[in-house]
Amino acid sequence: MMIKLDDVYYTYGTGYAVEGISLEIKEGELVAFVGHNGSGKTTIAKLIAGIVKPTKGSVFVDGLDTKKSKTSEIIRKVGIVFQNPDYQLFESTVLDEVLFALKNMGYEKDEALEMATKALERFGLTAFAQRPPLSLSGGEKKRLAFSIVYAWNPKYIIFDEPTVGQDKKNLENLSAVIKELIKNGKSVIITSHDMEFLWPFDPLTFVVEKGKIVWNGSMRELFKQLDFSKFNLTEPQLSVISKKLRLKNPVLTVEEAVEAIKGVNAL
Ligand SMILES: Nc1ncnc2c1ncn2[C@@H]1O[C@H](COP(=O)(O)OP(=O)(O)OP(=O)(O)O)[C@@H](O)[C@H]1O
Ligand SMILES: [Mg+2]
Repeated sequence: MMIKLDDVYYTYGTGYAVEGISLEIKEGELVAFVGHNGSGKTTIAKLIAGIVKPTKGSVFVDGLDTKKSKTSEIIRKVGIVFQNPDYQLFESTVLDEVLFALKNMGYEKDEALEMATKALERFGLTAFAQRPPLSLSGGEKKRLAFSIVYAWNPKYIIFDEPTVGQDKKNLENLSAVIKELIKNGKSVIITSHDMEFLWPFDPLTFVVEKGKIVWNGSMRELFKQLDFSKFNLTEPQLSVISKKLRLKNPVLTVEEAVEAIKGVNAL
């Protein structure tokens, strides 16, 4: 079971925003789409979530062709947290916002309430339950958008630019949630420019440029093979340090860096 893009094209009217993309995302995998503004990351995310359908080619979610399946069928499997959470918020309270999708999916009231409560708690929003969603701050809205998708527990979860506007504590919580989801066998798909955030996860990375995948591989491979600046990507500090230390394999965490520096000093 997996997500499969088969020679997918998408146009909003003029030119292709996505042009001939083929790839597979397996269960339990952490995948990142990186690339500069307007390269096509959000469009790819929407294609995978079945929100937009390919102009040419096909997207399959566990064998379901998104063009031939109902959006409600796809949405049970693929959850997406939008880049701009305002598009996701339209209920009158934070709690109702989380309950809305669950009710649509047919969960009983009590069960839905339990799921929603747990999700709000996971993102530190318990005290906000009765607030109008649009009264939340930017970062809080983003957390609410995370809670909504987390609550319905889909197998594939897409985070579109999840780190934007998030402070240190929220970023740490987001990291923990991503690790938890992967541990529970979910696939997590992240679109981001935030190489610093992605680096320690060592995701399977797809570099997107003008709607095409121009490179793919792990962060470790990216380190060995790619000039970050050529793709307008910021090289993570730990990658820079790894290069300065002339390491064959990059360090992915500060702890690894400390060990590597000890090794270099011992020479
Ligand atoms: N609704 C739309 N109508 C017309 N063109 C669009 C629309 N949405 C996106 N595009 C265009 O499609 C291309 C890809 O956009 P997309 O949002 O997928 O990029 P992105 O990589 O997510 O960018 P960012 O990093 O800024 O979020 C861009 O050229 C964009 O202008
Ligand atoms: Mg985008």
